[in-house]
Amino acid sequence: MTLGVKIFRGGENLPPAIGWLEKETAVDKTYVLYSDNTIVGWTQILRHDTGQYELGYLEILPEHRGKKYGRALTHFALYENTAREIYALTIIPEFFEKLGFVRTAYPPFVDHNDPECQACEPARCAALLFTKPADLVRYGTEEKLLRKYEQDIVLGRNFMGSEFSAANEKTWTYAENIYFLEIADFLFLAAYPLAEEPFGVVCPYRSLPDAALDKYFARLRELNIHQLAYVNAQVCYLLHKYSGAPKLKFQEDRANFDYLYKVSDFAAYGGARFADKRNRLKKFLRNNSPAEIIPYRPELKEMFLNFAEKRFAAMQVGVISLEVLKLGLEQNLYQGFLVKIGRAEIGLLLYSELNPRTAIVHFELIDENYDGVAQFMNNYLGQALSGRYTFINREQDLGIAGLRKSKLSYNPYRLVKKYAVTF
Ligand SMILES: CC(C)(COP(=O)(O)OP(=O)(O)OC[C@H]1O[C@@H](n2cnc3c(N)ncnc32)[C@H](O)[C@@H]1OP(=O)(O)O)[C@@H](O)C(=O)NCCC(=O)NCCS
Repeated sequence: MTLGVKIFRGGENLPPAIGWLEKETAVDKTYVLYSDNTIVGWTQILRHDTGQYELGYLEILPEHRGKKYGRALTHFALYENTAREIYALTIIPEFFEKLGFVRTAYPPFVDHNDPECQACEPARCAALLFTKPADLVRYGTEEKLLRKYEQDIVLGRNFMGSEFSAANEKTWTYAENIYFLEIADFLFLAAYPLAEEPFGVVCPYRSLPDAALDKYFARLRELNIHQLAYVNAQVCYLLHKYSGAPKLKFQEDRANFDYLYKVSDFAAYGGARFADKRNRLKKFLRNNSPAEIIPYRPELKEMFLNFAEKRFAAMQVGVISLEVLKLGLEQNLYQGFLVKIGRAEIGLLLYSELNPRTAIVHFELIDENYDGVAQFMNNYLGQALSGRYTFINREQDLGIAGLRKSKLSYNPYRLVKKYAVTF
């Protein structure tokens, strides 16, 4: 199950299934929540003539209620929005209070004689207000902030667990809804991903004074966040030394261990360990010669995007993956290639630099009708990266059994451990 949100601006056409939703000028944006490409809910941010913003028309389809989708979608819309203060008018104030809204007086745009109001239950209508905490800074508008901390981050830019590459800085901000928190001259993160509990992230500094951590944990608690995610061993070591009040509980997070491979292993597929990969590659080359490699260039963006779109649809992967890939291509964050046999496009791989020794693979999409294409692509990647990098990080398996089997079958050099810390 993959969740994704599609954002539609003011007058833009909405998907037919929800074409009846308000398209008046008051609609600033419509947020449509998808689960595996099926619409499961929606909400809108309205901008009233009085200048105030309201989150309205929130609905999760009855068969999907009670799965935290309403909360995820509301969070997403609140934190994606640039408006700082957002009202909600509702007969279920408890739902909104859990998300950090507070009760307030009716704003000036409310008219309880309005037919829409009358159709509801005006007598039970409560007004609530959400004020985005001023110290949550959305990346993108605040590049300066990131630059200020760049020098502090141990191992160059490597500060979101082990895989916070230059490309991930941007794309994770989109997919995981990440915000920066500047506390006592340290940079921390707070994340509001879809479908998961919100979490905090600690950057791996050389030291983390208790006073800064005290403030960070207090701030997270105010934001209703009770866990840290993607914590690498180095940060765990620093957190173990923390002697403040919150009791920290450390747990290995196997689903988020990164798989690290040697470039030379991929380039050669040598020895008994790689016999299976070698055979699959040979068979692929026998059946599919000549396979053509098309390196990525910005002029080919549409071609790469179209292929990704088709593959994601075939795999029933949510829109968010495609949005992330699109964003990455638009911002020129990736290198990579497409594989063609004659006119057929059968594979795509996109990577970027994680650190001077390591490339990180963000997307690997294949047409499974062509046996051995994945083995071919990884072998080609190894050869293309030889002399430039020592390691290839192919990210985590997310706890998906098939993905774990496949990632292990390439004989990782080692797994980069990650931990979840609760408090
Ligand atoms: C209200 C609605 C959007 C909630 O969506 P949902 O996906 O079922 O809710 P979630 O699973 O995200 O619930 C999040 C939290 O809110 C609580 N909650 C959900 N519906 C609630 C309700 N009607 N009243 C009070 N609390 C509610 C849940 O118990 C949960 O609490 P927890 O985190 O402590 O467990 C959905 O029920 C709906 O579409 N209802 C009909 C339309 C509607 O009433 N819209 C609101 C108009 S103002």
